[in-house]
Amino acid sequence: MEIEISSCEHLMYVSEIQQEMYDSAQRRGTGIAKRSIEYLSKKISDGNAVIATENGEWVGFCYIETWSHGQFVANSGLIVSPNFRNRGVATLIKNRVFQLSRDKYPTAKVFGLTTGLAVMKINSDLGYKPVIYSELTQDEEFWNGCKNCVNYEILMKKERKNCLCTAMLFVPENNKVNGVVNNQPENQYQNEQESNLSV
Ligand SMILES: CC(C)(COP(=O)(O)OP(=O)(O)OC[C@H]1O[C@@H](n2cnc3c(N)ncnc32)[C@H](O)[C@@H]1OP(=O)(O)O)[C@@H](O)C(=O)NCCC(=O)NCCS
Repeated sequence: MEIEISSCEHLMYVSEIQQEMYDSAQRRGTGIAKRSIEYLSKKISDGNAVIATENGEWVGFCYIETWSHGQFVANSGLIVSPNFRNRGVATLIKNRVFQLSRDKYPTAKVFGLTTGLAVMKINSDLGYKPVIYSELTQDEEFWNGCKNCVNYEILMKKERKNCLCTAMLFVPENNKVNGVVNNQPENQYQNEQESNLSV
C-alpha cells in the first residue's frame, strides 16, 4: 500500500472519495460539512491531503484545513474505503497528515471534532487532548460547516460551547512560554510578538 501526499495524479479518485464520504455519513446517521468536488480537487492538487492507494485502487483519504489565519489546523474528511477498514489504514493516514500539518504550520494548534472512537484513539496517540469548544478556533467559517449536521440545533442551544462531538486539541511545544503551555490563541500571538521583540 502507498500512503502519499496528494497531487494532481490523484484527481481521478475524487468522485469515489466524495461518494464514500456521503455514503458513510448516511450509514452513521450523522451530518457532515458538505465537500464539493471542486473543494476536494483543490485540496488534492495543492498537496493539502494524504491519500492511500493499493494497486491503483483508492484506499483512504484525509485533508488539511486552516482556520483563524493559520493559528489552527484541522485534519478533516478522514475516510477509509470499507474493504480496507480495521487494518490500521486510518492510523497511518492520520499520522502522515498530522506530520504534514506540523511541517506546514509548525506553530498552529491542531484540532478535530468527532463522535468516532477510532478517531479519538488515533488522536490521543498523536498527543491530542479533549477540550471544550471555546479552546478551538472561533472562526465563523469553521462553525458554519456544522450547519449540515443533524445535531446543529443542539450546538446552537448550547451556545456553541459543546455538542455531541468530542473536541480534541494538540498544542505544539512551541506554544510553551517560559516552560508553561499557553492555551490561549490570542496570548500565543501576543507572546510571539514579545519573544520576537526580545531577540
Ligand atoms: C473511522 C475510520 C476512518 C477508521 O478507519 P480504519 O482504517 O478502520 O481505522 P484503524 O484500523 O486505523 O483503527 C484505529 C483504531 O480504531 C479502532 N477502530 C476502528 N474502527 C472502529 C470502530 N468502528 N469503532 C471503534 N473502534 C474502531 C481500531 O481498533 C484501532 O484501535 P487500536 O489502535 O486500539 O487497535 C473508518 O471506519 C471510516 O472511514 N469510517 C467512515 C468515516 C468516518 O467515520 N470518519 C471519521 C470522521 S471523524
